[in-house]
Amino acid sequence: MPSADTLRAAIRDVVDFPKPGIVFKDITPVLSDGALFRDAITLICDSAGGQKIDKVVGIDARGFIFAAAVADRLGAGFVPVRKKGKLPWKTRQKAYSLEYGESVVELHEDAVAPGESVLLVDDLLATGGTAGAALELLDQLGAKVVGVTFLIELAFLGGRKMLGDHKVVSILIFND
Ligand code: PRP
Repeated sequence: MPSADTLRAAIRDVVDFPKPGIVFKDITPVLSDGALFRDAITLICDSAGGQKIDKVVGIDARGFIFAAAVADRLGAGFVPVRKKGKLPWKTRQKAYSLEYGESVVELHEDAVAPGESVLLVDDLLATGGTAGAALELLDQLGAKVVGVTFLIELAFLGGRKMLGDHKVVSILIFND
């Protein structure tokens, strides 16, 4: 059984990145270690609890790294939620608040068929704005979101409250 504690120990805190006062959780030591990366993917796959997943949806950009590998492991399709202006086909858009200002995410409107079961995956839950916007887009398409999984949750930022009553699993929870 993969150990979440081993993964936690590998996450690197980078002080004052990308700006003063922020402690950035650097996942690259997990990605660059084959065993740790495999363990991370296994734990995210396990969060689906054996449910049938049609599409694994990942969020631009770090979420793609995990979501694509999870999709492959589960035999599901992969769908990207991208930042504005990157998707070429017809999209649904959702704006959400950042600490300063606003951002927009997009989803191809044919990326998920109504009723398809979806696992939403991202590397990090902070304020929940990004994942909340992705869930709104999936809801617009009639997706059946059976789980939302993060490698890391910064619980002190309270992002879970943005995710409604979805089943939310975080592999590593940080309380400060
Ligand atoms: C980070 C992270 C999440 C989001 C979480 O992405 O990967 O997608 O922020 O923040 P929130 O819960 O406050 O919305 P970022 O926008 O830094 O993009 P990146 O993955 O391209 O680095």
